[in-house]
Amino acid sequence: MLKAKIAVLVSGGGTNLQALIDAERSGIIHSGEITLVISNNQNAYALTRAEKAGIKALYISKKELNTQEAFETALMQSLEENEIDLIVLAGFMSILSERFTARFDHRIINIHPSLIPSFCGQGFYGLRVHEAALKKGVKVTGATVHFVNEIPDGGEIIAQKAVEVQDGDTPETLQKRVMEQAEWIILPRSVEKVAHQIANLP
Ligand code: GRF
Repeated sequence: MLKAKIAVLVSGGGTNLQALIDAERSGIIHSGEITLVISNNQNAYALTRAEKAGIKALYISKKELNTQEAFETALMQSLEENEIDLIVLAGFMSILSERFTARFDHRIINIHPSLIPSFCGQGFYGLRVHEAALKKGVKVTGATVHFVNEIPDGGEIIAQKAVEVQDGDTPETLQKRVMEQAEWIILPRSVEKVAHQIANLP
């Protein structure tokens, strides 16, 4: 395979998606190409980012499909139709069942805004992660990229980067620093690493 085909699953602003698009343009990602973006939120700005970059963008509605099972079936169908090799969860706010994760074993990666195993698992998403870190009073936090399995934030770790907590930080200022100093750096690098492995499979 020349390049792995990458799908990015999103729900929100899509700054991590943007970091991936920029990394492909600059050559940091060269073993894969982002060919599909899927959002479970119609209003996600990430969809606009995809369109601006000329990447096929789809909205799949969990509400209209009623059940998690039907939603995941629709997701799988789109991923298979588009011959996707690697799935990147970049701010995707939906927990995937074992039926889904087992089907794409070591083919799904996620970015989580803490140093796993701290502040992770069920209920730790978005600003809540940074609120918990500040409440605990940790002096260092960061981000983790990991493979996705049936345990929320429980799959094999691919990369981590530490970020200092500063006096006076709010969840918002900490979130921003973790994104700028960790997420937007280690996610593209990890995507290249895994895409390279997939593209060079015998
Ligand atoms: C990031 O903090 C990511 O780690 C978390 O959700 C946020 C998504 O932000 N899982 P964005 O949509 O990439 O801007």
